[in-house]
Amino acid sequence: MVGHIPTLPDLGDVAGKRVLVRTDFNVPMEHGEITDDFRIRSALPTISWLTERGAQVVCASHLGRPKGAPDPKYSMDAVRARLAALAPGVELLENLRFDPGEEGNDPAFVARLVEGVDAYVNDAFGAAHRAHASIVGPPRTLPSAMGLLLQKEVDVLLGLRNNPKRPFVAVLGGSKISDKLGVVEALLGVVDALVIGGAMCFTFLAAKGYPIGDSLWEPDQVETCKRLLAGGKRIHLPEDLVGVDAEGNFATFGIHLPDGAKGFDIGPGTAAAFSDVIIESRTVFWNGPMGMFEDPRFAAGTRTIAQAMADTKAFTVVGGGDSAAALAQFGLDDEVDHVSTGGGASLELLELGDLPGLAALRGAPNA
Ligand code: 3PG
Ligand code: MG
Repeated sequence: MVGHIPTLPDLGDVAGKRVLVRTDFNVPMEHGEITDDFRIRSALPTISWLTERGAQVVCASHLGRPKGAPDPKYSMDAVRARLAALAPGVELLENLRFDPGEEGNDPAFVARLVEGVDAYVNDAFGAAHRAHASIVGPPRTLPSAMGLLLQKEVDVLLGLRNNPKRPFVAVLGGSKISDKLGVVEALLGVVDALVIGGAMCFTFLAAKGYPIGDSLWEPDQVETCKRLLAGGKRIHLPEDLVGVDAEGNFATFGIHLPDGAKGFDIGPGTAAAFSDVIIESRTVFWNGPMGMFEDPRFAAGTRTIAQAMADTKAFTVVGGGDSAAALAQFGLDDEVDHVSTGGGASLELLELGDLPGLAALRGAPNA
């Protein structure tokens, strides 16, 4: 644990008190309907903890990225309806990002948020890396605590960072190495091996001199990848690939992609090899799909990795919206030990060991 962060019992008697709970209800929506309510359900233990002790709970969250003004597309109505079904009697404020003061961390907006409120709880792990008003403002004046979800996320992710059972392997995918460079460097300091799939593998393959056809890559990151490859830690890269040939037809390839070809998934041999690494580890952190799994032709690599995550006896942690969505799509989300509700937040906590939301709680009057 990082310094003293107050927890729910540190709020004292909450009976009859009005408690503002910052949640991350930034859920995926399609045509105004919630497609996955995982983040809402994940806040229920904290909400019940408070309501069972007689607190009056007011939740507040952002949804999407409205530009500091009301936008019906990002209204909280659907979330409010789902919350009412799951936790009757709990209030939910309107989208925090309808006010520019939220992202601007404006003291006047903080003052409005805490008006008439007796205590503050941060359970918004997914947003705890944002130094926004609702994350860092209330603990300046109110007795504050981290909620049960935030506490669990911090315990699990800092446990990986500080004290993993070995071998510890991190499996990384997604499109850009530049987005994840900080966390890759930090992970290289603690893992025994790194497994790289997703489009980011092509920059590594290019750094090793393999022809990558017209696959997505980041030429300005080649030198960085060379440095990471020379760093002495085991980095597993694909040995076969699946994608389309120059005519756009589905094709499987070895490690050399012909001119005009594009890789969209790791190949079956690679998926099997990566699975073996996962099965033989004692701790596995997975962030980022292995390919374009939304397209069934390119889902096999990600599916095989998800299955290995489910099958291994290792302690398994999945961070990031896309890998969590992949697990859910394959019906395997209950088969891993911890699915983080945070994408960027889980990577930032692994990288830096702290988050603005945690630092703010450490400065609370009751800390
Ligand atoms: C997320 O979905 O990653 C969190 O809710 C944070 O949202 P943001 O990236 O728009 O700040
Ligand atoms: Mg398991």
